[in-house]
Amino acid sequence: MKHTIAVIAGDGIGTEVMPAAISCLDEIAQIHDLSLDWNHLDWGSDHFRATGRMLPVDGLETLSTHSAIFLGAVGVPDIPDVETLWGLLIPIRREFEQYINLRPVRTLPGVPSVLRDERPIDLVLVRENNEGEYSEVGGRAYRGLPQEAAMQQALFTRHGVSRAARFAAELATTRSGRVTSATKSNGIIHSMPFWDEIVAETLAEYPGLTLRSELIDALSASLVLHPWDYDVIVASNLFGDILSDLAGAVAGSIGLSPSANLNPEGRHPSMFEPVHGSAPDIAGKGIANPIGQIWSGAMMLNQLGAPRAAAHLEAAFEAALAAGVRTRDLGGTATTEQMTAEVISQIRALA
Ligand code: NAI
Ligand code: MG
Repeated sequence: MKHTIAVIAGDGIGTEVMPAAISCLDEIAQIHDLSLDWNHLDWGSDHFRATGRMLPVDGLETLSTHSAIFLGAVGVPDIPDVETLWGLLIPIRREFEQYINLRPVRTLPGVPSVLRDERPIDLVLVRENNEGEYSEVGGRAYRGLPQEAAMQQALFTRHGVSRAARFAAELATTRSGRVTSATKSNGIIHSMPFWDEIVAETLAEYPGLTLRSELIDALSASLVLHPWDYDVIVASNLFGDILSDLAGAVAGSIGLSPSANLNPEGRHPSMFEPVHGSAPDIAGKGIANPIGQIWSGAMMLNQLGAPRAAAHLEAAFEAALAAGVRTRDLGGTATTEQMTAEVISQIRALA
């Protein structure tokens, strides 16, 4: 089966972890007889500087012909983040109805936990990815005057919340059967009670599942104190974003965390990217952890219908970490290149 994949390495460490992940995926593809055809697109902040746009005018049309999109990260210190995010990432997520952002977090072998208690963590964040707090509704008024004001409306729809809840429920039926919903219905008095109602209504269709609604502030603390008690967590766009960095860091480093932006019906390509950003503080040093990007590649293989190849790749980076090769964010000294070389040698060893 031949797959053409759109590659947007983007900015900063995106350009370092992307080639690392592609070399692992090429190795896997060879062993599993997959044909992965990479279409490298130089879209990102340099493209913005040259053309005033992050994506070309027909960029989404170009992407729509691919089997999947593989993204590094976008964002540079000298361009406002709203340009990079709303110029590229958010239009892709919305235009292609990638309404689920799936972010697994689990303890990996050889990765020291930041917690004293080393009980294993194995949870999945299901983040609503198309609406909620990330909304264009609002505006600025009286710019530059003392009465200057900004207003930002969150937008929650029955359609949007119920499909996120349904995805989480279906996922939970294949795992422990426990779903936690992140809410703030004590303080946010319109949208969050609405979220709670629709999540509860949807989950009621799954009598075998248990649902716990937890306020986001307490949930954040609990995720640090006893993350092993969580399994599937469903959250709005903003809450899910924050919880995924938090949970990723608790499990060892956000450099490990992968994500899939899914169009579950497969009408449009899905997009795979690490949870982290372009990390300008370490960009250009060759020390970024490539595992988040590699693991995102494994999620892509799953979506492309190659679960055995995906499992092989996951086993390989786990074996590489277990062998003691670690990048600096994990307390080690390995460079991006050395970490990648170890993953490739484990891919071969496990073939
Ligand atoms: P960040 O995730 O880029 O970095 C946060 C911290 O984690 C930094 O100290 C960084 O060095 C470290 N880190 C991140 N990834 C790492 C890796 N693979 N290996 C080792 N250490 C790693 O978040 P930050 O600093 O808030 O954002 C930087 C830029 O990235 C901004 O322009 C932001 O808008 C953008 N961004 C883009 C995203 C995307 O393209 N999907 C997601 C998040 C942020
Ligand atoms: Mg984020």
